[in-house]
Amino acid sequence: MCGIIGFTGKKEAQDILLDGLASLEYRGYDSAGISYFKDTGKISIRKTVGKVADLRAICDDENNSTCGIGHTRWATHGGVTNANAHPHKSGKVSLIHNGIIENYHELVETYDLKDQLISETDTEVAAALFNKLYDGNPEAAIQKAVKLFRGSFAFCILFKDQPGTIYAVRNVSPMVATYCEDGSFIASDLTAFIAYSKRYFIVPEYHILTLTEKGIVLKDLEGKEVTPEYLEVSWDVTAAQKEGYPHYMLKEIHEQPAALTRTIAPRIKDQLPDFSEDNIPDSLFEHCTDITIVACGTAMYAGTVGRTFIQSTLHLPVTVSIASEFRYEEPVITENSMVIVVSQSGETIDTLEALRLAKKYTKKTLAIVNVKGSTIARESNYVLYTHAGPEIAVASTKAYTVQIASFYLLACKLGLVLGRIDEKSAREFIGMLQKTPDSIETILKQAESVEHLTKRMIHAQDAFFIGRGLDYTLSMEGALKLKEISYIHAEAYAAGELKHGTIALISEGVPVIAVATQKHVYSKVISNIREVKARGAYVILLSKDEKITDKSICNVHIRLPETPDAFTIFDSVVIFQLIAYYASIGKGFNPDQPRNLAKSVTVE
Ligand code: G6P
Repeated sequence: MCGIIGFTGKKEAQDILLDGLASLEYRGYDSAGISYFKDTGKISIRKTVGKVADLRAICDDENNSTCGIGHTRWATHGGVTNANAHPHKSGKVSLIHNGIIENYHELVETYDLKDQLISETDTEVAAALFNKLYDGNPEAAIQKAVKLFRGSFAFCILFKDQPGTIYAVRNVSPMVATYCEDGSFIASDLTAFIAYSKRYFIVPEYHILTLTEKGIVLKDLEGKEVTPEYLEVSWDVTAAQKEGYPHYMLKEIHEQPAALTRTIAPRIKDQLPDFSEDNIPDSLFEHCTDITIVACGTAMYAGTVGRTFIQSTLHLPVTVSIASEFRYEEPVITENSMVIVVSQSGETIDTLEALRLAKKYTKKTLAIVNVKGSTIARESNYVLYTHAGPEIAVASTKAYTVQIASFYLLACKLGLVLGRIDEKSAREFIGMLQKTPDSIETILKQAESVEHLTKRMIHAQDAFFIGRGLDYTLSMEGALKLKEISYIHAEAYAAGELKHGTIALISEGVPVIAVATQKHVYSKVISNIREVKARGAYVILLSKDEKITDKSICNVHIRLPETPDAFTIFDSVVIFQLIAYYASIGKGFNPDQPRNLAKSVTVE
């Protein structure tokens, strides 16, 4: 949801801002803009509808400013127009914003700002308010203004008579900063300045930052100076680059074996799950009566796999809630309920608010999060970090598989603590989990054949994914992947449910991607597949069978490796990801930046 960056230092700012924005583009790509101090002390703005590449094309090659701010927008208030693009300007103030100022209408009325507005955005109202409250003391203006805002915000602000200085403040919306030998940086996330520093600190909420060439001063709203707490990441700039792949998505699909190994290996001791390095005690699992999993999007679908697996192996009640619904459906949680929130970014606002609500009922909250130090990770009682590395493509791939691996590790631990599985079976289970990276490597070698079969799909209007049990939960992610990046309408159905209505939509040539890997329901799924095949569907079947030549079952058979039933989902999902990826590029789209979507959704 909007990417922001600011730099002031010894180097020319423009390329730093544009490159930083390019790496933040996954947060939104409706429009982009920068503003910077010119030698004359004036503030200049360049902005345009479109992507960062469009902005780069209208930027001044001769711009030697060393202080500026940049923004890439995911539109919320007001359409995708130049006037609504950031940075916004009002009097002496130019600013960029990520978040939503909920009471902006009220502020316009109370502070009589109407005549100063040319856009439809809440952000311009904030700029006008900062300008109105500014009497030469930026900190005083910010202190007053932030007490008036209701909502979420991360602001970077330039005041015309404070050249070389960037001010920043945030509530909820994420922002990280660093000072290094090149100067001071601030951004929505670390990928924007990782090329300059692996050290960074998370900007605390309701603190004012003053960034200059000489350093960063952090103060609370009473004006008391606070020492920033620096962290360091283990990955570097190459992890956030395409490294020869045409798209981030393809690169991230191929990174799954390594991401799984990084996530699984540190949690295994003596072939049993061990979370001591994560500071997750066994007491978290003791007396657990039920589990509620809460998340959005792909993370929620990973939760659905977690639910089906935990419930069927441990016989423990597990529910999955969409985070934006959870808060309004009177959740039934007691002190012995465990609530697991799942989020790649750790910043999704609905998931965060769900966590906050869950904490009112139970201390057993655990977050499965990829981004270190993110808000959800900080606020949850316990955190299990996935180690997928930075995920840039909007459509999540490697984050999903490591989330499922995390659920499997947790399920194994929970089963041991509750006495529902014995050590021998736990060791066997862990052994199988350790083999998933190799199995995915085998699948990745078939990528070209998947590309070939999508040629048949790209003309389709609709597609269906069907399966039973774990295969059904996985199908939901398969359908989501396909529709979000290829814009082919796709739906997932429990294979046995089709005949209760949806089979009416199956006609000649409609692609049905069927998965039949679960032995206990295998023959039933095959019967369901025959039902759609008989009605003209073009069936692509994923199964562990050696060969299927029966044309009344499928048109194309993809053979999966002979892995135990609970683990074939890791292989199947990689096929789904590749189908979606190749369908998207086959239709001429950019799979990394699907229309209207953003990777990190920080609005409710
Ligand atoms: C957005 C993204 C999805 C993602 C979801 C949850 O909708 O487009 O790819 O799955 O947010 O994000 P999170 O960071 O909480 O996992």
